[in-house]
Amino acid sequence: MSGFRPEVPKDLLVRYGTSAPRYTSYPTAIDWRHDLDPHGYSARLASAAAADGPVSAYVHIPFCEQLCLYCGCNVVITRDHGKSAPYLDTLDAEIAAVAATGIARRPVSQFHWGGGTPTFLSSDEMKRLFHAFTSRFTLTEDAEVAIEVDPRFTTLEQVRTLGALGFNRMSMGVQDFDPKVQKAVNRVQSIEQTRAILDACRANGFKSVNIDLIYGLPHQHREQFRRTLDLTLDMAPDRVALFHYAHVPWIRKHQEVMPDDAFPSSDEKSAIFADAVEAFTARGYRWIGLDHFAAPGDELAVARDAGTLDRNFMGYTTRRGTDLLPFGITSIGEIGGAFVQNAHTVDAWASAVASRGTACERGHVLDADDRLRRDVILALMCNGRVDIPIVASRHGVDFPERFARELAELRPMADDGLVLLEDDAIVVTPLGQVFLRNIALPFDAYTRRRRETGEGTARTFSRTT
Ligand SMILES: C[S@@+](CC[C@H](N)C(=O)[O-])C[C@H]1O[C@@H](n2cnc3c(N)ncnc32)[C@H](O)[C@@H]1O
Repeated sequence: MSGFRPEVPKDLLVRYGTSAPRYTSYPTAIDWRHDLDPHGYSARLASAAAADGPVSAYVHIPFCEQLCLYCGCNVVITRDHGKSAPYLDTLDAEIAAVAATGIARRPVSQFHWGGGTPTFLSSDEMKRLFHAFTSRFTLTEDAEVAIEVDPRFTTLEQVRTLGALGFNRMSMGVQDFDPKVQKAVNRVQSIEQTRAILDACRANGFKSVNIDLIYGLPHQHREQFRRTLDLTLDMAPDRVALFHYAHVPWIRKHQEVMPDDAFPSSDEKSAIFADAVEAFTARGYRWIGLDHFAAPGDELAVARDAGTLDRNFMGYTTRRGTDLLPFGITSIGEIGGAFVQNAHTVDAWASAVASRGTACERGHVLDADDRLRRDVILALMCNGRVDIPIVASRHGVDFPERFARELAELRPMADDGLVLLEDDAIVVTPLGQVFLRNIALPFDAYTRRRRETGEGTARTFSRTT
C-alpha cells in the first residue's frame, strides 16, 4: 500500500503561518466570559441530573517526578509521593459532592485519568481512586476507561492493576525515540521501557494503546525522525497522536530553556509531518483531524469514516455530546451547555472542595452564536466537512447569509486547494487537513474580535506552522 503525502508548497507555509487555537473547545478557555460561578455550576449539575444519556468524567492527577522542557500541560513537579494521599482525600470528597447532586444517576460512558502522570499514584492509590468513583457512579458496559502514562514512571504491576480494574485504553507519552532529542527536552526514555509497557497493556486486556509523539522539538529533522516513525510502526499501536510542538514560553517559562537555534524550521517540520502521514497511511492508519492516526478498525477510524467524530477537552472522541464532569485541579468540564474549570492550585482546589464540595473556579455559558460556531468549527476539526443544510436547520440560520464574511475569507483557501466550497458543504481537502486550524479560524468570533481591536493573538496561541 502506498501512503498519502501532503506535500505543502513553501509559500503556503509562510502565508498560513499564524497563531491559532487547537480548538479542543470553542470558545477556547481564554475567551470565556466568566459568567458561571460555583453556585451556577451546582445548579447546572442538578438540572443535568434530570437529563438522559451517559456522561463522561475526567480526573486530573497533576504530579510528575520530572519536568519535560516542552511540556505545555498543568503539572506539579515533585518527588514527594506523600502528596498523593491528601490529593486523593480531596478527590474523594469532590466525587462524593458531585455525585450527591443527583448526576450519578446517569451512567458514565467515558472515564479518563490524565495528567501530569496518573501513575504517580501507587497501585493501591489507583485502586482507591477507582473505587471512590465507581462506588458512586456506574460505568456503562462498553465504557471507555482510559489513562495517560509515562512509561518511565509506570511499573508492570501498575499496568496489571489497571487492567484488573477495567481500564481498556492507555495513552503513552514517547515524543521522540532519539537520545539527542530526549536529552534536549529532559526526557530520556529507552525503547525497552516503552515496549515493556506496551506489551504489558496487550497482556492485560487493554483494547487500545496510543503513542504520543511530538514534532517540532529541538534537533529533530527528517532523517532523524524517520527512525522514531519506524520504531513506532514496529510497535503497532492502535492510535498515534503526532502533536505539533506548541511553543508558548509566555505561559510555560521552562520552554525557554531549550536553545532557540535547535528548533527545526517550518519547512523541516512540514516535511517531517508529511513523512509521518505518508508512513502511517501506507500502513493503513487513517489520518484523523489535525494530528491523529488510527489503525483500521479502531473506533476513531470507524467514526471518522461515518462522520461522527467529536472533539472535547480530552481530544478526539467517538462519544458525542455527553456532559463532561471535571475532577482535580485545572480540570475542564462541560455541563448542560456551559464550560467549567476547576481551581488551579492544589490549595485553592482543596479549600473550595472543603467549603462547598465542588471547586469550579470559572466558567462560560455558551450562547446561541457560540453553539452555532462551535458546531461548524468541530465539524471541520473532526470530520473535515460542514454539511450546510444540517447546520442551518439545527440552528435555524441562513448559513450563506450569516457566514458571508467567513465564506469570503475561505475563498482564497479554496483557490489554494485547501477547501472545496460547494453549495451545500464546506469540504476540507487532504492538503487542507494540514491547515485545519487556519480553516476553522474565520468562524472564531473571539479571535476575530481580538484581532480587530488590535489586541493581537501573537502571545495567545501557538503557531500553526
Ligand atoms: C498531558 S501529557 C501527559 C503524558 C505523561 N505525563 C507523559 O509524560 O508521558 C500528554 C501529552 O501531551 C503532549 N504535550 C505536552 N506538551 C506539549 C506541547 N507543548 N506541545 C505539544 N504536545 C505537548 C505530549 O505528547 C504528552 O505525551
